[in-house]
Amino acid sequence: MKLVNISFAEFQSCHLLLCITFALSFNQVFSTTNEIDKFVLLAFKAGITGDPFSVLNSWNNSIEFCQWYGVTCNKRRHRVTILDLHSQGLSGSISPHIGNLSFLREMLLQNNSFNQEIPPQLSRLHHLDVLQLDNNLLVGEIPKNISACFNLVHLNLGFNQLTGEIPTEVGSLSKLRIFSVYENNLVGSVPSSIGNLSSLRQLYLTLNNLSGSISQVLGHLTNLQYISFGGNRLSGTIPFSLLNLSSLIVFDAGYNQIQGTLPIGIGLKLPNLEFLSICKNQFEGLVPPSISNCTKLHVLQLSDNRFSGKVPSLEKLCTLRWLTIYGNKLGSGKPEDLSFLCSLTNSTKLQYVGIHRNKFGGALPKCIGNLSIALTQFLVSENQISGKIPEEVGNLVNLEVLFMNHNQLSNVIPLNLGNLQSLVKLQLSDNNLRGIIPSSLGNLTKLVELHLGGNNFHGQILSHLSNCRSLDLLDLSNNNLSGAIPPQLIGLSSLAIILNLSHNHLTGVLPTEVGNLRALTALDISNNLLLGEVPSSLGECTELTSLRMGGNFFHGSIPESIKSLGGIEELDLSCNKLSGQIPEFLAIFRSLKLLNLSYNNFEGMLPCEGIFKNSTGTSIIGNNELCGGLPEFHLPNCIFKSPKSRKINIWAIFAFVAFGVLVIALIVSFIYLRWLKKK
Ligand SMILES: *[C@@H]1O[C@H](CO)[C@@H](O)[C@H](O)[C@H]1NC(C)=O
Ligand SMILES: *[C@@H]1O[C@H](CO)[C@@H](O)[C@H](O)[C@H]1NC(C)=O
Ligand SMILES: *[C@@H]1O[C@H](CO)[C@@H](O)[C@H](O)[C@H]1NC(C)=O
Ligand SMILES: *[C@@H]1O[C@H](CO)[C@@H](O)[C@H](O)[C@H]1NC(C)=O
Ligand SMILES: *[C@@H]1O[C@H](CO)[C@@H](O)[C@H](O)[C@H]1NC(C)=O
Ligand SMILES: *[C@@H]1O[C@H](CO)[C@@H](O)[C@H](O)[C@H]1NC(C)=O
Ligand SMILES: *[C@@H]1O[C@H](CO)[C@@H](O)[C@H](O)[C@H]1NC(C)=O
Ligand SMILES: *[C@@H]1O[C@H](CO)[C@@H](O)[C@H](O)[C@H]1NC(C)=O
Ligand SMILES: *[C@@H]1O[C@H](CO)[C@@H](O)[C@H](O)[C@H]1NC(C)=O
Ligand SMILES: *[C@@H]1O[C@H](CO)[C@@H](O)[C@H](O)[C@H]1NC(C)=O
Ligand SMILES: *[C@@H]1O[C@H](CO)[C@@H](O)[C@H](O)[C@H]1NC(C)=O
Ligand SMILES: *[C@@H]1O[C@H](CO)[C@@H](O)[C@H](O)[C@H]1NC(C)=O
Repeated sequence: MKLVNISFAEFQSCHLLLCITFALSFNQVFSTTNEIDKFVLLAFKAGITGDPFSVLNSWNNSIEFCQWYGVTCNKRRHRVTILDLHSQGLSGSISPHIGNLSFLREMLLQNNSFNQEIPPQLSRLHHLDVLQLDNNLLVGEIPKNISACFNLVHLNLGFNQLTGEIPTEVGSLSKLRIFSVYENNLVGSVPSSIGNLSSLRQLYLTLNNLSGSISQVLGHLTNLQYISFGGNRLSGTIPFSLLNLSSLIVFDAGYNQIQGTLPIGIGLKLPNLEFLSICKNQFEGLVPPSISNCTKLHVLQLSDNRFSGKVPSLEKLCTLRWLTIYGNKLGSGKPEDLSFLCSLTNSTKLQYVGIHRNKFGGALPKCIGNLSIALTQFLVSENQISGKIPEEVGNLVNLEVLFMNHNQLSNVIPLNLGNLQSLVKLQLSDNNLRGIIPSSLGNLTKLVELHLGGNNFHGQILSHLSNCRSLDLLDLSNNNLSGAIPPQLIGLSSLAIILNLSHNHLTGVLPTEVGNLRALTALDISNNLLLGEVPSSLGECTELTSLRMGGNFFHGSIPESIKSLGGIEELDLSCNKLSGQIPEFLAIFRSLKLLNLSYNNFEGMLPCEGIFKNSTGTSIIGNNELCGGLPEFHLPNCIFKSPKSRKINIWAIFAFVAFGVLVIALIVSFIYLRWLKKK
């Protein structure tokens, strides 16, 4: 210190030339005194245990510390002002010595793997205005005295493993604009002191374990633009003062236990709102008609609440992309229920419409064909929608998901559904649809799931469906389909989840192509009119966990190849004409939980091991020739024939044959004698 003073005094009274030389040496002296930051940085480095990209190799004596990777210094004073080591895969601890970098303004350590506590010594960084520690593995509590960093503008601690409560003290960080602690394990309530952060613009509390209600005082934050506290355990009501902040752009309260209604005037108060989500709460009452005045909305998520009544016109929401109102009590089962859909035809960016699980009645209006061409998902299932599927749906050529199941839709499937070439999932089951399954569905080559079960479709299953080469689930069950199973379809090797053809009137044999279903986990062809033998190729379907073939006319024995279905959990062969012995290998199927062999003609001894030990898991009634097994099955004892009796049988056969030969010899000789006599 003395040295500096002296140099400084001499510096003031020197000649120009001298002055320059002096200045140089002065600078050297100055920088050595500021080696303090170097030692702090080295102490910080010592806390780091992993540096996969070796960024800290440059932190060595051959380079001046202000040139070290990620370090920025104040040129004049030679003190560290910025430490930026984000996204470097660093692990270890944040050294408490970091609190000695007293000129630090920005500390950017986000997106690393720091895994200890946040050192409370950070509170000594009075110049700090940006602290980003998000996306690390930090544990422990948020240090209370972080409030001493009174210059903080941006504080991001999101996506760590922090515990404890949000300290009330953060309420004194009066310059704070961004406060983010999303995705931690924080508990307790949202401190009302946050209502004092009058500069706050962004508040992210999403995905913690916060409880209690949202304080009225948050409505004082007149600069607030982004607030998200979704995915907590917050309850109570949302203070109207909060939904009254005209600055709001994003409001996310989804996945909590919040009650109450939406304010009637919401649309007049929040003209800047782009994102509104209150899904999965307990809101009730009407969807306020003024919502259509939030003309900048991109996302409107009201799903899984208790909203009721009519859905208002949404005609002014021209930028809407995402509309979810599913899982409410909306609609009244009346014809005009779905008229709001027509108000969406000006929303040219609409991508997702989910109105399923409500009480909507009436028919689907033809105007759905005028919805945005950008629409990829349209879900209206589990309502009371009647009438026919409008042909206009074929205009929505970018649809990937179309769910209309569990309604009262009638009439036939419009042919132009085959225009929806992008369709990946089509769900029409449990309606009153009739007619044949149009061959144009075979044009849907991207289709992965096709559900048509529980309708009144009749006629043959056309082999066209086998053009859907990505199909992984096909459900045609519970219809009136007849004719043979097309071999191309049953051999569609993409099928992996379920092929369900049960409860129809299908005839003929089970084609051997069934063996192509190598990826399939569940096959159900029960309750049809199928006959012939069980094809041994079925043994190729080694991924099967459920095989149901009951209620047909299959005969013959269970093929030996079934032995390779080692992962099977459920096997139902009941109500057929199968015969022969019950194969011993069924007893060694480890995962088998349900075995139904009842009402067949099986004979011989019932095994006693594996599934056969469980009389609730195994059903064998209606097989009159079975014996043995556990007493619970109430079968007669098996009568074992001893080797001796078998020998006797052989003798009996021998005697019988000898007797026959004798009789024939007698007859022949009798005829010969008569012939001789005649001669
Ligand atoms: C940081 O400051 C503390 C307290 O003043 C001191 O004990 C510590 O040695 C300093 N660390 C370094 C690396 O200078
Ligand atoms: C010191 O850092 C420089 C710059 O990254 C590097 O080239 C040099 O190899 C380092 N020296 C040591 C001893 O690690
Ligand atoms: C996070 O860091 C990794 C490298 O460790 C990088 O690949 C990735 O892009 C970073 N992510 C973000 C969001 O910055
Ligand atoms: C914050 O707490 C830590 C440890 O309790 C202490 O070292 C530090 O000096 C405190 N900071 C302030 C500003 O009080
Ligand atoms: C908010 O600030 C006022 C005035 O500075 C103070 O009196 C009050 O206690 C603070 N409220 C909270 C909850 O911290
Ligand atoms: C949330 O906190 C409650 C107690 O406050 C605790 O019972 C629960 O397990 C926590 N949930 C999670 C997901 O941490
Ligand atoms: C809503 O804001 C207006 C001013 O913009 C104010 O007069 C009114 O009292 C506020 N209402 C609530 C419930 O906070
Ligand atoms: C939308 O706002 C306009 C004027 O700001 C008002 O006349 C209209 O009634 C509002 N619409 C609804 C549905 O509240
Ligand atoms: C769509 O916009 C046009 C022109 O802006 C308007 O005339 C029409 O009424 C709007 N349609 C709907 C359904 O809101
Ligand atoms: C759909 O749009 C077309 C052309 O813009 C128009 O002629 C037709 O009336 C509209 N249909 C419905 C039901 O809105
Ligand atoms: C769709 O299928 C129908 C009937 O199978 C066929 O006539 C038509 O040409 C197909 N359309 C396209 C675009 O492939
Ligand atoms: C017997 O089978 C039934 C039905 O699958 C199952 O619930 C039960 O747990 C099984 N019991 C034993 C002892 O495995």
